[in-house]
Parts: sequence; structure tokens; C-alpha cells
Amino acid sequence: MFGAKKNIKKGEISLGVDIGNFSVKVAQLSSKDNKFTLEGFGYSKINTAKTDGVLEALKSACAEAKLSERRAVVAVPSQGVIVRYLMLPTMGEEELRKAMEFEIERYVPFDRKDVASDYLVIKENSDSRNMKVLLVAAKKEFVDSRVRVLKDAGLEPEVVTIDSIILKNIFQINYSDKKEKTVGLLNIGSKISSINIVRGSTSYFMRDVQLGGDNITQLLKEKFDIAPEEAEKIKCNLTLDDREKFKIIEPVLGNLLNEVYLSFDYYESEFGMVVDEVLVSGGTAKLAWLANFLKENLNREISVLNSIKNVTVSPIVSQQRLDFVFPSLAVPLGLALENFN
Ligand SMILES: Nc1ncnc2c1ncn2[C@@H]1O[C@H](COP(=O)(O)OP(=O)(O)OP(=O)(O)O)[C@@H](O)[C@H]1O
Ligand SMILES: [Mg+2]
Repeated sequence: MFGAKKNIKKGEISLGVDIGNFSVKVAQLSSKDNKFTLEGFGYSKINTAKTDGVLEALKSACAEAKLSERRAVVAVPSQGVIVRYLMLPTMGEEELRKAMEFEIERYVPFDRKDVASDYLVIKENSDSRNMKVLLVAAKKEFVDSRVRVLKDAGLEPEVVTIDSIILKNIFQINYSDKKEKTVGLLNIGSKISSINIVRGSTSYFMRDVQLGGDNITQLLKEKFDIAPEEAEKIKCNLTLDDREKFKIIEPVLGNLLNEVYLSFDYYESEFGMVVDEVLVSGGTAKLAWLANFLKENLNREISVLNSIKNVTVSPIVSQQRLDFVFPSLAVPLGLALENFN
């Protein structure tokens, strides 16, 4: 979405760059005969106190990944993106293109010339009379800012897409055994959580909510009147039986659960199917008790997403670093996969 896609030839390398609010992750992937190899990755925390913190982290992540590829797939920050699901009468390609211009005017509150947009027909739910269409629009300045930071780091931005939609790429290559199931993909970062509902190769629903691990840190920081670094440490070491601290962070967990319930409800009433299980990713999935907590409250099978279940890892990749970034690999890998589609 949002860009001319230059498909990479088989056997070539693709690079995914995930610029979050907390960290930058880059993943370099190769593909041969439909098998994928993680050739390298880099992770760097962003120093938000610095104006060029993002660029610095990006350069450092690129250096760790020992990149051989400069063309990179990147996502627009979801704060700047508008996502709408529309039900339209069934129509041909050209007619749909014109209809979408009209829908953009209707749903996007910015001047048309300032907006980059794209859309996708969700085939599985289209009957003969109607079609469901996903519209994604972003202010061009958000797209441009991403392009700029990548260029400043010496990369060539290729496809600019959005985080949540690419989670499905990871699901597709790693979980072919679950293609008959409806799976909720939950990527919980620092400020944003993406909820994506997939079945087979179709993404039926996606939504980003402004909620993440930082909200937990913030509550601890306020309650104990401590520095953010101290609160971060307490959060990372928190266990379920620490009732007092758990009570403090409960409002955030409650809000997160609510957003997930609402999304699952929407899918279940709109498509008449049930979300069978949930796979969690993102830095916040490192909270050891989170999967259990979600399992108890959502009443579904929950596990941490293994984004390299079906991916060979190059021997040059450090196992220790891999364990460290494991839940955060989903987005950069999914972005890299976008080029092989
Ligand atoms: N060991 C850990 N235990 C608990 N939480 C952790 C741990 N390590 C990192 N986190 C949390 O994970 C979050 C960062 O996750 P991630 O790197 O996926 O975010 P991001 O992609 O940069 O942010 P976003 O997607 O929200 O813009 C932070 O809130 C951080 O506190
Ligand atoms: Mg993220």
C-alpha cells in the first residue's frame, strides 16, 4: 500500500524496517523456493530525548544487521493513518477506483492532494451484490517523514505500508496448520497495540489502538513517584502474585481487554464466525504473565507468536540477541515479506 511495489526476484534479499515509538527493528530476509531465511536483524532503543533519536537508532540497528540490502520496506506511523471498512455494491475495477475517490472525500478530513491512499477488496466476504472494501489513507507528510529518515540512514524506501496489515504475512508463512481457524493477532508495543483478525490469507479486521506497555510504566511511575527508568524496571519484573502492583496497572489491562472484546465482537457479528485463538507479539508480550492473563480473560487459546517458526535462521545471527528481540520480530519480518508477495 502507498507505493509502487517493485517485486523482488526469487532468491533475492528483502529488508523490513519497523520504526516504533520505543525501538527500531530491522530484519533482512532471503527467499528461495518459498522458504525463508533470516539473514540478519538489528534492534535499537530510541533515545526520545534527542531530536535525531530515531535516525540514530535506525543507523545503529542497520549496523547490527550488517545489511547487504539497501532497499527497505517501511510502515507509516499508525497515528497518521485512517482505516475504514466499507460495504459497496459489487462493481468493476474502474468503477471502484472512481467510487473510492468519492469515499476518500467523505471519510478523510484532509485536502485530497495531501492524502496518500489505497484500498483492498476483502474477497471472502463479498456476495454477488455487495463487496467489502478496506480503505487506508494517510497524510502525505507522514509518509514523507518516513521516507526522509530512511534516506538519511542511507536506505532506499520501497513500499510504504501500515503495521497492522503486515502481521498477516507472518501468520501466513508460519501457521499454515491454522488456515482453517480464525486467529486474532495482537501486537502490543509501547504506545500502540494492533489488533488483526485473520483467516487463511485474508485479513478481516484490523485496528490500531493508542495503548501499550508505556501506559503500564506511566501508572507505576505516577503511583510511586519514581523515574521512568525505575518504573520500567519494576514493570519488567512484575509477577501476577504481586497483588498491590497489579492493582495499579489493572486499568490499562482492562482498557486493552475492552478493545480486544470490541474487535472480536465486531468480527463475530459481521462475519458470523468465532475468533478461535490469539497470537501475541510486540515488546510488551515479554511480560511473562501476559499470555496467561489474556487466556483467563478472553477464554481462548493464547500463545506468543513465533514469527520464525518456519524461517531458517542464518548462523551469523546471535541466538542471545534473537531471544531478546523475539516477540518484536513480527513487524520487521512481516514488512520484509511484503516484497515477496
Ligand atoms: N522484558 C520486558 N518486559 C516487559 N515489557 C517490556 C520488556 N521489554 C520491553 N518491554 C516493553 O515493550 C514496549 C516496546 O515494545 P516494542 O519495541 O514492540 O514497541 P514499539 O514498536 O517501538 O512501539 P509502538 O509499536 O507502540 O510504536 C515498551 O513499552 C517496553 O517497556
Ligand atoms: Mg511497534
